[in-house]
Amino acid sequence: MTPLSRSGPAKPASLARSGGIATERSPEFSLPLRYFGLGVVAYLLAMLGLVVAGPALTGSPWNPHVLGLTHVMTLGAIVGMIMGAAYQMVPVVLLAPIWSQRLGKAGFWVFLPGVIAMVIGFWASQPALLGIGASLAGAAIAAFLVNLGVSLVRGAQWNVVGAFLVASMLSLGAAVTLGMIRALSYANPAGAWQIPNALTIHAHLAAFGCAALLIFGVSYRLIPMFAVTAENDRRAGAVLALGVAGVLGIACGSGHEWGGVVRGGAILAAASAGLWAWDALAMFRSRTRRKLDAGLTYAYSAIGWLILAAGMGVALAWGWIPPGVTPDRWAIAYAVAGMVGFIGFTTIGQFHKIMPFLAWYHRYSSLVGKTKVPLIKDLYNEKVTWSGFWAAQLGLALSLASILAGWGLGVQVAGVLLTASALATAGMTIQTLKR
Ligand code: HEM
Repeated sequence: MTPLSRSGPAKPASLARSGGIATERSPEFSLPLRYFGLGVVAYLLAMLGLVVAGPALTGSPWNPHVLGLTHVMTLGAIVGMIMGAAYQMVPVVLLAPIWSQRLGKAGFWVFLPGVIAMVIGFWASQPALLGIGASLAGAAIAAFLVNLGVSLVRGAQWNVVGAFLVASMLSLGAAVTLGMIRALSYANPAGAWQIPNALTIHAHLAAFGCAALLIFGVSYRLIPMFAVTAENDRRAGAVLALGVAGVLGIACGSGHEWGGVVRGGAILAAASAGLWAWDALAMFRSRTRRKLDAGLTYAYSAIGWLILAAGMGVALAWGWIPPGVTPDRWAIAYAVAGMVGFIGFTTIGQFHKIMPFLAWYHRYSSLVGKTKVPLIKDLYNEKVTWSGFWAAQLGLALSLASILAGWGLGVQVAGVLLTASALATAGMTIQTLKR
């Protein structure tokens, strides 16, 4: 089969080490940029959605608005960012050039309408639109997985981060397959395939198996790179093994309705998160760059939200829910803590390091020594990012407390704070691209 386009031949490893997160092997900037752009806009819309539909989060996870909002955040923001980051980082971290940049670019134009149709399909309870959106988004994600898989098979120099990436991509494939089966069952109820606890299986494969494991793995390289500290991945293999066993336990146990296996899986997943958090904190503490900027502080704070979410997940598996709180509210608060607090804030934090660097690299790196060029930190206003950081922390804390208390107005006020923080991220993106 002739590839749609190919990156250049592999260069010696020494050449590929030039620029941290961008090297001669990197794809054209427009490839990751389009996915990053989607990620930023979707994150903003998801936070705005809390203002519009906040009270729905104090009810059932099956509420159409909750399902719609979940997928703006997970599919648009999280998967959008994951695709952009994978296209940018795989050539750098695993030294594997992207097999087909053209497929990556074309896939975006299938993914975008797919996400929009899916979200409207959920929000407005339109099963046919949901089915069309799921098919488009699923096809785009399948193309992404094939593109990445061929790139890895053809040129990867394997290390532990590659093992995290493979586990994460397999989980994404499984989660999307199950999501599509469910979405198509809504579109065609006569042929519906009943899978016990499909929502629990799908959500954990996607959010923990795909997103969290990818963050765990990539952080073993990114924290040392950005915070200037020694790499510390001795326990990375154990983090991955515990994480994979945990998500398999949760998925198989839920599918067969074996409570003990689900509880065992929850403990293993929490142990994986705890061990990784220990390593991440150790790397942050031993940094040589003492002053943390707003981006790194976002990523640092996310470790705390992960510990909270892991504790809430174990409590949910055991049925330890505080009196006065419904299991549905506890489950929604747990999902928000994990998806916004851990996955969202880590992604936003690392994006504040990656985006200005890439904008600077593509615009100014060739001018260094020839003319005066700005510093990376001068490309955007960090004070605004700090304000966004505090609004995000306050907003998330308020949203969790309000969901648990069943206070819809509180979720909406929290949504205003989180929207303000998302605007700060969007502002940083625009500023860095304009300079
Ligand atoms: C093409 C991709 C996807 C499709 C077709 C899809 C489909 C669905 C469907 C149909 C549901 C309703 C549950 C059910 O009926 O069993 C659902 C729920 C859910 N999905 Fe997805 N999904 C996709 C991607 C993702 C991703 C990438 C994530 C996370 C990173 C995710 C996270 C969730 C969560 C957390 C819920 C539960 C929402 C709630 O509690 O209201 N989904 N998904």
